[in-house]
Amino acid sequence: MAYQGVSDFRSDTVTRPTRSMYEAMMTAPLGDDSLGDDPTVSKLEQMAADLLGKEAAMLCISGTMANQVAIRTHCRPGQEVILEESNHILNYEMGSAAFAMVQTRPIVGTNGVMEPCELERRLRSADGHSPGTGLICLENTHNAAGGVILPRDIVLELSGIARRAGIPIHLDGARIFNAQAASGIPARELAAPADSVMFCLSKGLGCPLGSLLCGSRDFIDKARSFRQVMGGGMRQAGIIAACGIVALEENIERLSEDHKRARRLGEGLSRIPAIEIDISRVETNMVYFGLKDGCTATLEDIVENARHRDVLMAQATKLSIRMVCHKDIDDNDVGKAIHVIQEFLKHAENGRTLSLQIEL
Ligand SMILES: Cc1ncc(COP(=O)(O)O)c(C=O)c1O
Repeated sequence: MAYQGVSDFRSDTVTRPTRSMYEAMMTAPLGDDSLGDDPTVSKLEQMAADLLGKEAAMLCISGTMANQVAIRTHCRPGQEVILEESNHILNYEMGSAAFAMVQTRPIVGTNGVMEPCELERRLRSADGHSPGTGLICLENTHNAAGGVILPRDIVLELSGIARRAGIPIHLDGARIFNAQAASGIPARELAAPADSVMFCLSKGLGCPLGSLLCGSRDFIDKARSFRQVMGGGMRQAGIIAACGIVALEENIERLSEDHKRARRLGEGLSRIPAIEIDISRVETNMVYFGLKDGCTATLEDIVENARHRDVLMAQATKLSIRMVCHKDIDDNDVGKAIHVIQEFLKHAENGRTLSLQIEL
C-alpha cells in the first residue's frame, strides 16, 4: 500500500518496517556484536547460513559493504576481479574494489551473463607483469539486466571453469530470494556454485538495513577482521538482526506477489503505444522500459509528471526508466502508475504540447 499516499516504485529498498519488525526490535535479546555475544545477531547469522547452505554468515550494514568485504577476503592486493560489464559491483559501488587494491576486469555479456568461453579466455596467472585472477563475481538476480535470473546451466558452466582454475566465485545475491521465488530453485542451490554469497535484508525482504555475507567458517572468520577494518563492527546490532529474522520468517514467501504485480505493470505499460518494453525480461520484481523512436516526450518528462501525481520511479539509464515492486506496492499502486503514464503519453501521441502542468 502506498506510504503516505505516494506510490514509490523507485526501488525495493524504500519499504518501511512491518509492525512485527518493530515489535521484534523492542524485545530482542541484545549483546555486543563486536565482542561476539549478541544472541539475536548470532541467531540471524545461523539462519542465513542454513538458508544459503554455507557454514557461516556475518551481518553487514549494507550489500556494498558485504560485497567489498568478500572481495577483500578472497583476493590479495594486485589481483583482478572478473565480472560481467553491467554488474552492480563494477557500476554502482563507487569503485570501492580499489580499496582492496584489486582491479576489476569487465567482460561483455548478454542480459547480465558472461559467456563461459569469454571467462575461460580471460583467466590468467600473475606473471610478473599481468595481474592474476583472484575472484569471479556473479549477480543473481541481475539488477541492471532487468532483475533477470541467471540461467542455471551457464552458472554451472562458469563455476566449473572457475573450479578447474582454482579461482573462487562470489555471488552478489542481493535479491537471491527473488530468484528463488521466480525459479522455484531453493536459494541454497542457487548459491551452491559460489564460494561466498551476499544477500540483502533491505530490499524485497523489507528490512530497514542489513546484508548477510555467507561462506565457509574460515572465510567468515577472516571476513570479520576486514569488516572491522571498514568500520563495520557493530554493537547492539540485535535490533537490526531482529528485523532480519522476521524478514526471513515472514517475507520470503510473499515475494511472488511482487513478481505478479511487476508482470501486470509491464503488461499494462506494453499496451501504451509509445512505450518500448521487453516483457520477457520481467522475470521478478523489476520493470524497465523506454520510449519508441518518434515519441515527443522524454523519460525525464515521464518521471517528473508522475512525481507530481505521487508516483515515483527512477530513470535508470539515458534510455530507460526502472520501476520496482515491493511489499509497500499494492494493486492500486500498479493501476495508478499505468494510468498516470498512459494519460501523460496520450498527450504526446496526440501531438499536443507537452507540459508538466497537464491535468495537474
Ligand atoms: C545487485 C545489488 N548488489 C548490491 C547492492 C548494494 O546494496 P546496498 O544498497 O545495501 O549497499 C544493490 C543495491 O541496490 C544491488 O542491487
